[in-house]
Amino acid sequence: MDEITNPFSPGAGSRPPALAGREEILHQAHVLLERVKQGRPEKSILLTGLRGVGKTVLLNAIERMAVDTGYHTLAIEGREDQPLAPLIAQYLRKVLIALYPAPGVGEKTRQALAVLGSFISTFSVSVGEVGLKMDIAAARGRADSGNLEIDLQELLVAAAEAAAEHHKAIAIFIDEVQYFSASELSAILAAMHKIQQLELPLVLVGAGLPTLPAMAGDAKSYAERLISFPEIGPLSAMDTAKALRDPALAEGIAFDDHSLEEIFKLTSGYPYFVQEWGSEAWVQAVSSPISLNVIQQCTPRVIARLDRNFFRVRYDRLTPGEKNFLRAMAECRRSPIRTGDLAELLKVRVSTLGPLRSKLINKGMIYSPAHGELAYSVPLFGDFMKRVMPKLARTEN
Ligand SMILES: Nc1ncnc2c1ncn2[C@@H]1O[C@H](COP(=O)(O)OP(=O)(O)O)[C@@H](O)[C@H]1O
Ligand SMILES: [Mg+2]
Repeated sequence: MDEITNPFSPGAGSRPPALAGREEILHQAHVLLERVKQGRPEKSILLTGLRGVGKTVLLNAIERMAVDTGYHTLAIEGREDQPLAPLIAQYLRKVLIALYPAPGVGEKTRQALAVLGSFISTFSVSVGEVGLKMDIAAARGRADSGNLEIDLQELLVAAAEAAAEHHKAIAIFIDEVQYFSASELSAILAAMHKIQQLELPLVLVGAGLPTLPAMAGDAKSYAERLISFPEIGPLSAMDTAKALRDPALAEGIAFDDHSLEEIFKLTSGYPYFVQEWGSEAWVQAVSSPISLNVIQQCTPRVIARLDRNFFRVRYDRLTPGEKNFLRAMAECRRSPIRTGDLAELLKVRVSTLGPLRSKLINKGMIYSPAHGELAYSVPLFGDFMKRVMPKLARTEN
């Protein structure tokens, strides 16, 4: 088919032509946005799931919803070794400046800018002299303790009060939340706790790996009363079919049932892989409907591409010992995998696996769904490990 009209969009955060199977979570977000705008308390949302399940595109969809609902939004993304304070200050500055020139601007907005000015100098953020430029001096004694937990809370409360003054609301979107440190996460939760108690119009919608609920629970014991952690998983067979069928049909092309079943079987419904197969099928097909035969021709090409890109970038960051650990996980039949089973396979004691296990968790390759259990954070990674390392080595290094 014509590559120019190819509707499929494999890629990180690429908006899918059809956002299949996410109606429930979009509804939950709609309720959250409406309630908070009306000053009613509601739990914030942190989406959790493996890489490539569609957290970022959902976050973006919820942000568009927030904008349509009249929210001022700011979207930040966690990265390894990037502190939270400058990120939040830079984006909040834009929001407050957007509020500032409104007619009848009141004292709260002025104060919020003053608090931001002091937060910025406390955390040495270089975003220009916000306060001076606006002829507003930094607020002494506010958001300047140097303790992020106290200062972020003051900053967000001041910003939310400014929004309330204009009958507006603020929505903060944070992607890759797991990259923030425990103290940063703690500060975010404490600020949201305060905002909720004061019933101020500020919501938080975040996304991250499945370790997030545990991280948040460790940071603050009240996390689960403050936040809901919907799990974003693979699509059902029906939703996978919809994700493929609807965008193709919009271009006048059909998939036959066997081809749809085959893609579901190969991808287990993981959205990123669904887009990859959809895209390749589109390129290879010469007539409609797209048949099983076309999908079978596509499969080796898609797998080779995934192995080269999606999987390989992760694999290349591993030491031999880590590779072997991950390869051994692919041998375990039970899911989730137990550390004990792995030790048995590798013929080592459970305790010797500890350091490798924590290195792999730090690299974001695996996570622990429950005590003593392990899982890959990338879907279908076990199959890749078997392709790239046909045999399991039994030595440790
Ligand atoms: N609900 C969905 N239906 C179809 N495709 C989707 C869906 N959600 C995500 N995708 C596709 O999956 C890929 C990964 O999405 P992304 O949001 O980057 O995942 P994550 O942030 O969880 O790693 C993108 O190519 C996107 O187009
Ligand atoms: Mg993402």
